[in-house]
Amino acid sequence: MSDNRPYVTRQPDHLELPQPGDEAQIHSDLLSNHIRQEMERAGGRLTFDRFMELCLYAPGLGYYVAGARKFGDEGDFVTAPEISPIFGRCLARQCIQVFEQIGGGDLLEFGAGTGAMAADILAELHRLDSLPGRYLILELSPELRIRQQETLQERVPDLAHMVQWLEDLPLPGFKGVVLANEVLDAMPVQRFKIESGEVREQFVLLEGDTFSLIWDDPITPGLAEAVMDLGLTKGYESELNLRALPWIQELGERVDTGAVLLIDYGYPQAEYYHSQRSEGTLMCHYRHRAHPDPLWFPGLQDITAHVDFTAIADAGLKAGFDIAGFCTQAYFLMGCGLDGMLADSDPNDVDSHMRLVQEIKRLTLPTAMGERFKVLGMTRGIKHPLIGFGMRDQRERL
Ligand SMILES: C[S@@+](CC[C@H](N)C(=O)[O-])C[C@H]1O[C@@H](n2cnc3c(N)ncnc32)[C@H](O)[C@@H]1O
Repeated sequence: MSDNRPYVTRQPDHLELPQPGDEAQIHSDLLSNHIRQEMERAGGRLTFDRFMELCLYAPGLGYYVAGARKFGDEGDFVTAPEISPIFGRCLARQCIQVFEQIGGGDLLEFGAGTGAMAADILAELHRLDSLPGRYLILELSPELRIRQQETLQERVPDLAHMVQWLEDLPLPGFKGVVLANEVLDAMPVQRFKIESGEVREQFVLLEGDTFSLIWDDPITPGLAEAVMDLGLTKGYESELNLRALPWIQELGERVDTGAVLLIDYGYPQAEYYHSQRSEGTLMCHYRHRAHPDPLWFPGLQDITAHVDFTAIADAGLKAGFDIAGFCTQAYFLMGCGLDGMLADSDPNDVDSHMRLVQEIKRLTLPTAMGERFKVLGMTRGIKHPLIGFGMRDQRERL
Protein backbone atom coordinates (compact mmCIF):
# COMPACT_ATOMS: atom_id res chain seq x y z
CA MET A 1 0.00 0.00 0.00
CA SER A 2 1.47 3.40 -1.01
CA ASP A 3 2.25 5.81 1.79
CA ASN A 4 0.61 8.78 0.14
CA ARG A 5 -2.65 7.22 -0.99
CA PRO A 6 -5.65 9.55 -1.21
CA TYR A 7 -8.46 9.21 1.31
CA VAL A 8 -12.10 9.87 0.57
CA THR A 9 -13.86 12.44 2.69
CA ARG A 10 -17.62 12.80 2.56
CA GLN A 11 -19.23 16.22 2.78
CA PRO A 12 -21.06 16.48 6.10
CA ASP A 13 -24.84 16.17 5.64
CA HIS A 14 -26.71 19.34 4.76
CA LEU A 15 -23.58 21.48 4.62
CA GLU A 16 -21.39 22.42 1.70
CA LEU A 17 -17.96 23.14 3.13
CA PRO A 18 -15.42 24.91 0.91
CA GLN A 19 -13.26 22.30 -0.84
CA PRO A 20 -9.64 22.43 0.41
CA GLY A 21 -6.92 23.12 -2.18
CA ASP A 22 -4.67 20.36 -3.60
CA GLU A 23 -1.82 21.04 -1.19
CA ALA A 24 -4.13 20.92 1.82
CA GLN A 25 -5.66 17.65 0.62
CA ILE A 26 -2.19 16.10 0.24
CA HIS A 27 -1.43 17.21 3.79
CA SER A 28 -4.65 15.62 5.03
CA ASP A 29 -3.80 12.38 3.18
CA LEU A 30 -0.39 12.29 4.89
CA LEU A 31 -2.02 12.64 8.29
CA SER A 32 -4.67 10.06 7.35
CA ASN A 33 -1.87 7.64 6.47
CA HIS A 34 -0.20 8.31 9.78
CA ILE A 35 -3.52 7.60 11.53
CA ARG A 36 -4.08 4.45 9.45
CA GLN A 37 -0.65 3.09 10.38
CA GLU A 38 -1.31 3.61 14.08
CA MET A 39 -4.76 2.09 13.64
CA GLU A 40 -3.27 -1.04 12.04
CA ARG A 41 -0.76 -1.37 14.88
CA ALA A 42 -3.64 -1.03 17.37
CA GLY A 43 -5.61 -3.87 15.75
CA GLY A 44 -7.72 -1.93 13.24
CA ARG A 45 -9.37 0.86 15.20
CA LEU A 46 -8.61 3.79 17.51
CA THR A 47 -10.60 5.25 20.37
CA PHE A 48 -12.20 8.53 19.36
CA ASP A 49 -10.02 10.55 21.73
CA ARG A 50 -6.82 9.11 20.22
CA PHE A 51 -8.12 9.88 16.73
CA MET A 52 -8.90 13.45 17.84
CA GLU A 53 -5.46 13.74 19.43
CA LEU A 54 -3.76 12.71 16.19
CA CYS A 55 -5.95 15.04 14.12
CA LEU A 56 -4.99 17.98 16.32
CA TYR A 57 -1.50 17.20 17.58
CA ALA A 58 0.24 14.45 15.52
CA PRO A 59 3.85 15.70 15.27
CA GLY A 60 4.34 17.82 12.15
CA LEU A 61 0.90 16.96 10.76
CA GLY A 62 -1.88 17.71 13.30
CA TYR A 63 -4.12 20.74 12.97
CA TYR A 64 -2.42 22.70 15.76
CA VAL A 65 1.14 21.72 14.93
CA ALA A 66 1.20 22.12 11.15
CA GLY A 67 1.49 25.39 9.27
CA ALA A 68 -2.02 26.40 8.19
CA ARG A 69 -3.51 29.68 9.40
CA LYS A 70 -6.08 28.84 12.05
CA PHE A 71 -6.85 32.04 13.93
CA GLY A 72 -8.54 35.23 12.76
CA ASP A 73 -10.62 36.23 9.77
CA GLU A 74 -8.45 34.31 7.27
CA GLY A 75 -8.41 31.17 9.41
CA ASP A 76 -11.06 28.86 10.83
CA PHE A 77 -12.18 30.60 14.02
CA VAL A 78 -11.68 33.76 16.06
CA THR A 79 -10.79 33.78 19.76
CA ALA A 80 -11.29 36.64 22.23
CA PRO A 81 -7.65 37.88 22.15
CA GLU A 82 -7.93 38.07 18.34
CA ILE A 83 -11.07 40.21 18.63
CA SER A 84 -9.64 42.90 20.86
CA PRO A 85 -6.65 43.85 23.02
CA ILE A 86 -9.17 44.88 25.67
CA PHE A 87 -9.60 41.19 26.55
CA GLY A 88 -5.93 40.89 27.57
CA ARG A 89 -6.05 44.32 29.24
CA CYS A 90 -8.90 43.12 31.48
CA LEU A 91 -7.00 39.95 32.37
CA ALA A 92 -3.96 42.09 33.20
CA ARG A 93 -6.04 43.99 35.77
CA GLN A 94 -6.99 40.68 37.38
CA CYS A 95 -3.34 39.61 37.42
CA ILE A 96 -2.32 42.84 39.14
CA GLN A 97 -4.80 42.23 41.95
CA VAL A 98 -3.37 38.74 42.48
CA PHE A 99 0.24 39.98 42.35
CA GLU A 100 -0.60 42.66 44.94
CA GLN A 101 -1.97 40.02 47.29
CA ILE A 102 0.89 37.56 46.99
CA GLY A 103 3.76 40.03 46.61
CA GLY A 104 4.50 39.59 42.87
CA GLY A 105 4.96 36.41 40.89
CA ASP A 106 5.08 34.97 37.38
CA LEU A 107 2.51 34.52 34.66
CA LEU A 108 2.04 31.18 32.93
CA GLU A 109 -0.10 30.97 29.80
CA PHE A 110 -1.14 27.64 28.29
CA GLY A 111 -1.68 27.34 24.52
CA ALA A 112 -0.94 30.96 23.63
CA GLY A 113 -2.28 30.87 20.04
CA THR A 114 -0.83 33.73 18.00
CA GLY A 115 0.69 35.36 21.12
CA ALA A 116 -1.80 38.25 20.95
CA MET A 117 -3.00 37.82 24.53
CA ALA A 118 0.55 37.66 25.88
CA ALA A 119 1.42 40.88 24.02
CA ASP A 120 -1.70 42.67 25.28
CA ILE A 121 -1.24 41.56 28.88
CA LEU A 122 2.44 42.51 28.94
CA ALA A 123 1.72 45.92 27.38
CA GLU A 124 -0.99 46.67 29.96
CA LEU A 125 1.09 45.45 32.91
CA HIS A 126 3.97 47.61 31.67
CA ARG A 127 1.70 50.64 31.29
CA LEU A 128 0.47 50.13 34.87
CA ASP A 129 4.00 49.53 36.15
CA SER A 130 3.16 45.99 37.30
CA LEU A 131 5.24 43.64 35.15
CA PRO A 132 5.49 40.04 36.40
CA GLY A 133 8.77 38.31 37.22
CA ARG A 134 8.49 36.18 34.07
CA TYR A 135 5.88 35.48 31.41
CA LEU A 136 5.97 31.75 30.74
CA ILE A 137 4.23 30.03 27.84
CA LEU A 138 3.56 26.32 27.57
CA GLU A 139 2.69 25.64 23.95
CA LEU A 140 2.37 22.19 22.36
CA SER A 141 2.77 23.50 18.82
CA PRO A 142 6.27 24.38 17.52
CA GLU A 143 4.64 26.31 14.66
CA LEU A 144 2.56 28.44 17.04
CA ARG A 145 5.58 29.04 19.23
CA ILE A 146 7.32 30.74 16.28
CA ARG A 147 4.18 32.73 15.55
CA GLN A 148 4.06 33.84 19.19
CA GLN A 149 7.69 34.96 19.05
CA GLU A 150 6.96 37.00 15.91
CA THR A 151 3.86 38.62 17.44
CA LEU A 152 5.72 39.59 20.60
CA GLN A 153 8.67 41.02 18.65
CA GLU A 154 6.30 43.02 16.50
CA ARG A 155 3.88 44.25 19.17
CA VAL A 156 5.97 44.58 22.34
CA PRO A 157 9.63 44.48 21.20
CA ASP A 158 10.90 45.92 24.50
CA LEU A 159 9.08 43.29 26.58
CA ALA A 160 9.50 40.22 24.38
CA HIS A 161 12.65 39.18 26.25
CA MET A 162 10.51 38.55 29.37
CA VAL A 163 8.76 35.61 27.72
CA GLN A 164 10.11 32.08 28.15
CA TRP A 165 8.71 28.98 26.48
CA LEU A 166 8.50 25.89 28.67
CA GLU A 167 8.67 22.26 27.55
CA ASP A 168 6.76 21.11 30.60
CA LEU A 169 4.89 22.50 33.60
CA PRO A 170 7.02 24.63 35.94
CA LEU A 171 8.51 22.90 38.97
CA PRO A 172 6.48 22.82 42.20
CA GLY A 173 6.51 26.16 43.99
CA PHE A 174 5.01 28.28 41.20
CA LYS A 175 3.73 31.61 42.48
CA GLY A 176 1.57 33.84 40.28
CA VAL A 177 -1.23 33.52 37.75
CA VAL A 178 -1.97 30.68 35.32
CA LEU A 179 -4.10 31.53 32.26
CA ALA A 180 -5.71 29.21 29.74
CA ASN A 181 -8.03 30.71 27.14
CA GLU A 182 -9.75 28.11 24.97
CA VAL A 183 -7.29 25.38 25.94
CA LEU A 184 -9.64 22.93 27.66
CA ASP A 185 -11.88 22.87 24.59
CA ALA A 186 -8.89 21.83 22.46
CA MET A 187 -8.17 18.71 24.55
CA PRO A 188 -9.13 15.35 23.02
CA VAL A 189 -12.35 13.91 24.46
CA GLN A 190 -13.83 10.43 24.81
CA ARG A 191 -17.20 9.99 23.12
CA PHE A 192 -19.80 7.71 24.66
CA LYS A 193 -23.41 6.72 24.38
CA ILE A 194 -25.85 4.90 26.64
CA GLU A 195 -27.44 1.90 24.93
CA SER A 196 -29.78 -0.51 26.77
CA GLY A 197 -28.41 0.77 30.05
CA GLU A 198 -24.82 0.04 29.01
CA VAL A 199 -22.05 2.52 28.24
CA ARG A 200 -20.62 2.32 24.73
CA GLU A 201 -17.46 4.05 23.56
CA GLN A 202 -16.89 5.51 20.11
CA PHE A 203 -14.04 4.24 17.90
CA VAL A 204 -12.74 5.27 14.48
CA LEU A 205 -11.86 2.71 11.84
CA LEU A 206 -11.07 2.70 8.16
CA GLU A 207 -13.51 1.18 5.66
CA GLY A 208 -11.74 1.14 2.32
CA ASP A 209 -10.50 4.71 1.92
CA THR A 210 -12.96 6.30 4.31
CA PHE A 211 -12.81 6.72 8.05
CA SER A 212 -15.97 5.81 9.91
CA LEU A 213 -17.28 5.82 13.46
CA ILE A 214 -18.53 2.80 15.38
CA TRP A 215 -19.73 2.10 18.91
CA ASP A 216 -18.43 -0.78 21.01
CA ASP A 217 -17.75 -1.81 24.59
CA PRO A 218 -15.55 0.80 26.30
CA ILE A 219 -11.83 0.17 26.62
CA THR A 220 -10.75 3.54 28.06
CA PRO A 221 -10.02 3.00 31.75
CA GLY A 222 -12.53 4.78 33.99
CA LEU A 223 -14.86 5.82 31.14
CA ALA A 224 -17.80 3.54 31.97
CA GLU A 225 -17.68 4.47 35.68
CA ALA A 226 -17.42 8.20 34.93
CA VAL A 227 -20.38 8.02 32.53
CA MET A 228 -22.52 6.01 34.98
CA ASP A 229 -21.81 8.68 37.61
CA LEU A 230 -23.51 11.23 35.35
CA GLY A 231 -26.83 9.35 35.72
CA LEU A 232 -27.91 9.80 32.09
CA THR A 233 -30.84 8.21 30.32
CA LYS A 234 -30.95 5.74 27.47
CA GLY A 235 -29.93 6.93 24.02
CA TYR A 236 -27.85 9.77 25.36
CA GLU A 237 -24.70 10.52 23.38
CA SER A 238 -22.02 12.94 24.50
CA GLU A 239 -18.38 13.30 25.43
CA LEU A 240 -16.13 13.38 28.49
CA ASN A 241 -12.76 15.07 28.84
CA LEU A 242 -10.90 12.59 31.04
CA ARG A 243 -7.56 14.26 30.24
CA ALA A 244 -8.52 17.53 31.90
CA LEU A 245 -8.60 15.93 35.34
CA PRO A 246 -4.93 14.84 35.54
CA TRP A 247 -4.03 18.19 33.95
CA ILE A 248 -5.70 20.05 36.84
CA GLN A 249 -4.15 17.61 39.29
CA GLU A 250 -0.70 18.40 37.93
CA LEU A 251 -1.40 22.13 38.14
CA GLY A 252 -2.35 21.59 41.78
CA GLU A 253 1.04 19.98 42.39
CA ARG A 254 2.93 22.89 40.79
CA VAL A 255 1.02 26.00 41.92
CA ASP A 256 2.04 27.00 45.42
CA THR A 257 0.30 30.39 45.67
CA GLY A 258 -1.82 32.29 43.19
CA ALA A 259 -4.71 31.96 40.78
CA VAL A 260 -5.66 29.80 37.81
CA LEU A 261 -8.11 31.34 35.34
CA LEU A 262 -9.75 29.01 32.83
CA ILE A 263 -11.75 30.72 30.11
CA ASP A 264 -13.75 28.67 27.64
CA TYR A 265 -17.11 27.84 26.19
CA GLY A 266 -18.98 25.38 28.31
CA TYR A 267 -21.63 24.76 30.90
CA PRO A 268 -22.11 23.59 34.46
CA GLN A 269 -22.68 19.81 34.43
CA ALA A 270 -26.48 19.92 34.75
CA GLU A 271 -26.68 22.07 31.61
CA TYR A 272 -23.94 20.20 29.75
CA TYR A 273 -25.69 16.85 30.05
CA HIS A 274 -29.19 18.32 29.74
CA SER A 275 -31.67 16.34 27.66
CA GLN A 276 -31.61 19.14 25.05
CA ARG A 277 -27.97 18.32 24.36
CA SER A 278 -28.48 14.58 23.99
CA GLU A 279 -26.10 14.42 21.02
CA GLY A 280 -23.19 16.09 22.83
CA THR A 281 -21.25 19.25 22.04
CA LEU A 282 -18.54 18.09 19.66
CA MET A 283 -18.01 20.69 16.94
CA CYS A 284 -15.59 21.22 14.07
CA HIS A 285 -14.51 24.51 12.55
CA TYR A 286 -13.31 25.08 9.01
CA ARG A 287 -13.14 28.56 7.47
CA HIS A 288 -15.66 29.94 9.96
CA ARG A 289 -18.19 27.20 9.34
CA ALA A 290 -19.16 25.03 12.27
CA HIS A 291 -20.27 21.45 11.65
CA PRO A 292 -20.37 18.18 13.63
CA ASP A 293 -18.30 15.80 11.42
CA PRO A 294 -14.88 15.02 12.97
CA LEU A 295 -13.92 12.76 10.04
CA TRP A 296 -13.92 15.55 7.46
CA PHE A 297 -10.36 16.03 6.08
CA PRO A 298 -8.28 15.05 9.15
CA GLY A 299 -5.80 17.77 10.07
CA LEU A 300 -7.51 20.59 8.16
CA GLN A 301 -10.16 21.50 10.69
CA ASP A 302 -10.39 22.23 14.39
CA ILE A 303 -12.23 19.62 16.48
CA THR A 304 -13.50 20.83 19.82
CA ALA A 305 -15.92 20.06 22.64
CA HIS A 306 -17.50 22.31 25.25
CA VAL A 307 -16.16 22.24 28.81
CA ASP A 308 -17.98 20.67 31.76
CA PHE A 309 -17.06 23.32 34.33
CA THR A 310 -18.49 21.32 37.24
CA ALA A 311 -16.06 18.47 36.49
CA ILE A 312 -13.19 20.96 36.23
CA ALA A 313 -14.14 22.64 39.52
CA ASP A 314 -14.39 19.22 41.24
CA ALA A 315 -10.94 18.33 39.93
CA GLY A 316 -9.68 21.70 41.18
CA LEU A 317 -11.01 21.02 44.69
CA LYS A 318 -9.41 17.55 44.68
CA ALA A 319 -6.14 19.15 43.58
CA GLY A 320 -6.23 21.44 46.62
CA PHE A 321 -7.46 24.68 45.03
CA ASP A 322 -10.21 26.92 46.35
CA ILE A 323 -12.89 27.65 43.77
CA ALA A 324 -12.70 31.44 43.71
CA GLY A 325 -15.51 32.17 41.25
CA PHE A 326 -17.43 31.23 38.15
CA CYS A 327 -19.26 33.56 35.81
CA THR A 328 -19.83 34.46 32.19
CA GLN A 329 -17.08 36.14 30.20
CA ALA A 330 -19.19 39.32 30.03
CA TYR A 331 -19.47 39.63 33.83
CA PHE A 332 -15.82 38.74 34.31
CA LEU A 333 -14.61 41.44 31.92
CA MET A 334 -16.89 43.97 33.57
CA GLY A 335 -15.59 42.94 36.99
CA CYS A 336 -12.08 43.63 35.71
CA GLY A 337 -13.01 47.19 34.74
CA LEU A 338 -14.19 46.96 31.14
CA ASP A 339 -16.63 49.86 31.62
CA GLY A 340 -13.89 52.15 32.88
CA MET A 341 -11.69 51.29 29.90
CA LEU A 342 -14.53 52.15 27.55
CA ALA A 343 -15.14 55.39 29.44
CA ASP A 344 -11.44 56.27 28.98
CA SER A 345 -11.70 55.92 25.20
CA ASP A 346 -12.02 59.29 23.45
CA PRO A 347 -15.36 59.44 21.57
CA ASN A 348 -13.97 62.29 19.42
CA ASP A 349 -11.56 59.79 17.93
CA VAL A 350 -14.57 58.35 16.17
CA ASP A 351 -12.90 55.48 14.30
CA SER A 352 -11.03 53.97 17.20
CA HIS A 353 -13.89 54.58 19.67
CA MET A 354 -16.43 52.89 17.40
CA ARG A 355 -14.03 50.02 16.78
CA LEU A 356 -13.65 49.53 20.52
CA VAL A 357 -17.43 49.60 21.02
CA GLN A 358 -17.86 46.93 18.35
CA GLU A 359 -15.12 44.76 19.87
CA ILE A 360 -16.68 45.02 23.33
CA LYS A 361 -20.03 44.00 21.89
CA ARG A 362 -18.48 40.88 20.37
CA LEU A 363 -16.85 39.97 23.67
CA THR A 364 -19.85 40.63 25.91
CA LEU A 365 -23.20 40.38 24.13
CA PRO A 366 -25.16 37.20 24.94
CA THR A 367 -25.66 36.65 21.21
CA ALA A 368 -21.88 36.75 20.67
CA MET A 369 -19.28 35.46 23.18
CA GLY A 370 -20.61 37.05 26.37
CA GLU A 371 -22.63 34.18 27.81
CA ARG A 372 -21.40 31.12 25.97
CA PHE A 373 -17.92 31.71 27.36
CA LYS A 374 -17.36 31.30 31.07
CA VAL A 375 -14.50 31.97 33.45
CA LEU A 376 -13.60 29.61 36.29
CA GLY A 377 -11.18 30.93 38.90
CA MET A 378 -9.24 28.62 41.22
CA THR A 379 -6.91 30.00 43.87
CA ARG A 380 -4.50 28.90 46.51
CA GLY A 381 -3.29 31.11 49.37
CA ILE A 382 -5.40 34.10 48.32
CA LYS A 383 -7.67 35.73 50.90
CA HIS A 384 -9.55 38.42 48.99
CA PRO A 385 -12.22 37.76 46.35
CA LEU A 386 -10.95 38.14 42.78
CA ILE A 387 -12.12 41.37 41.11
CA GLY A 388 -13.22 39.46 38.00
CA PHE A 389 -16.02 37.83 39.99
CA GLY A 390 -16.94 41.08 41.78
CA MET A 391 -19.79 41.92 39.41
CA ARG A 392 -21.40 38.46 39.51
CA ASP A 393 -20.26 35.15 40.98
CA GLN A 394 -22.29 32.14 39.84
CA ARG A 395 -20.50 29.34 41.68
CA GLU A 396 -23.88 28.03 42.80
CA ARG A 397 -24.52 26.97 39.17
CA LEU A 398 -21.62 24.50 39.28
C1 LIG B 1 -8.27 27.14 20.40
S1 LIG B 1 -6.55 27.38 20.59
C2 LIG B 1 -6.56 28.80 21.64
C3 LIG B 1 -5.32 29.65 21.50
C4 LIG B 1 -5.25 30.91 22.33
N1 LIG B 1 -5.27 30.63 23.75
C5 LIG B 1 -6.33 31.89 21.97
O1 LIG B 1 -7.21 32.13 22.79
O2 LIG B 1 -6.28 32.43 20.85
C6 LIG B 1 -6.06 26.06 21.62
C7 LIG B 1 -4.63 26.07 22.05
O3 LIG B 1 -4.48 25.19 23.16
C8 LIG B 1 -3.26 24.49 23.01
N2 LIG B 1 -3.29 23.33 23.90
C9 LIG B 1 -4.16 22.30 23.93
N3 LIG B 1 -3.87 21.42 24.92
C10 LIG B 1 -2.81 21.94 25.57
C11 LIG B 1 -2.05 21.53 26.70
N4 LIG B 1 -2.33 20.39 27.35
N5 LIG B 1 -1.01 22.29 27.08
C12 LIG B 1 -0.72 23.44 26.42
N6 LIG B 1 -1.40 23.89 25.35
C13 LIG B 1 -2.43 23.15 24.92
C14 LIG B 1 -3.19 24.24 21.51
O4 LIG B 1 -1.90 23.89 21.08
C15 LIG B 1 -3.64 25.61 20.98
O5 LIG B 1 -2.57 26.52 20.94
